[in-house]
Amino acid sequence: MSPDLRALAAPLLEHQAPSGAFPACPTFSQYPYSWLRDSTFIAYALDRAGEHAASGRYYRWAAQTIAERSEQVSALVALRQRGEAIPEHAFLPCRFALNGEALDDGWPNFQLDGYGQWLWGLGEHLRAQGLRAMPEVFRPGVEVTLAYLKAFWREPCYDCWEEFPYRWHTSTLASLAAGLRAMQPFMRGLEPVTADVLAFIRDHLVQGGQLVKFAGYPDVDASLLWVAVPFGVLAVDDPVYTRTVQAIEQTLLRGGVHRYARDTYYGGGSWVLLTAWLGWVYARQGRPEEAHALLGWIRDQNRGRGLPEQTTDGVLNPVYVDYWRGQWGESARPLLWSHAMHLILEAEVAAHASPLPGVPS
Ligand code: BGC
Repeated sequence: MSPDLRALAAPLLEHQAPSGAFPACPTFSQYPYSWLRDSTFIAYALDRAGEHAASGRYYRWAAQTIAERSEQVSALVALRQRGEAIPEHAFLPCRFALNGEALDDGWPNFQLDGYGQWLWGLGEHLRAQGLRAMPEVFRPGVEVTLAYLKAFWREPCYDCWEEFPYRWHTSTLASLAAGLRAMQPFMRGLEPVTADVLAFIRDHLVQGGQLVKFAGYPDVDASLLWVAVPFGVLAVDDPVYTRTVQAIEQTLLRGGVHRYARDTYYGGGSWVLLTAWLGWVYARQGRPEEAHALLGWIRDQNRGRGLPEQTTDGVLNPVYVDYWRGQWGESARPLLWSHAMHLILEAEVAAHASPLPGVPS
């Protein structure tokens, strides 16, 4: 039976703000804001469910919110051209209030990956509707983003987990390459910078024949899965990628998928969204049984209360759990990005890993 993607989209639609933005989690004290990263995958999931109107509202909000920062980007580029230092909080925000305002609360701010991802997602959104020209409503926001990325893609920043500042992170660079590539059919002159980003990944982010979490650090991180799926920077059967997936399976797959071995945030549980990601990879690699197993694990995590960010059992570094609970209470649930990735995996399994005879779906 094919999955009811519209039903799976309901929690995403329910929490979309009138502006078009999505909060990361409507109930967790730290996550009532919209991150470009979470929101883009939420919008992508909505496109997979045929909810193009809602997804379009998000992309219009993102485009307008970024276009309004055109002067900020020009000032940043001028500072860099003069060789002046730029404080971390002066860069474009990694997250916004749902009305598009920036937040000035000391959160780790300089994170480039979301700016690549929203361009990638916009490309998918246009493609899903067969649009070959860039609608004018998106153009100013896209142009400001491209000016920003062309000037700053080579700067070390925080990673997609908002940690490890001043490093070059593989999943960040892959997000940027994907975003730049997605805009090539619509904007001129992006080929050289895209090629430079890809060369940087090849030259600095592959070590011992596999991708690494960040330059100079040999461990894997589950966000390395993004490099092939969906960003297509490597093919799913590229030996560098398959070795990376193997290392992720060996070190991070314990029922669900953990972010990285030394994760301490809420003790480092299994993340629903990353478990869905590995399932997505399996579906694309022609490994239907393994994709089904992970889908089953994800369905089991809902327990009627929505999907969490991460599990509380089987954490990698238990000594940290109470510390984080003491800071912020229980970890986020429902996390909309988890719901989005569940929807994507349901769609992927139905399309690329159809149920095996005798295996209930
Ligand atoms: C994660 C980010 C995410 C944010 C909101 C953080 O804990 O590391 O990747 O964007 O939560 O969900």
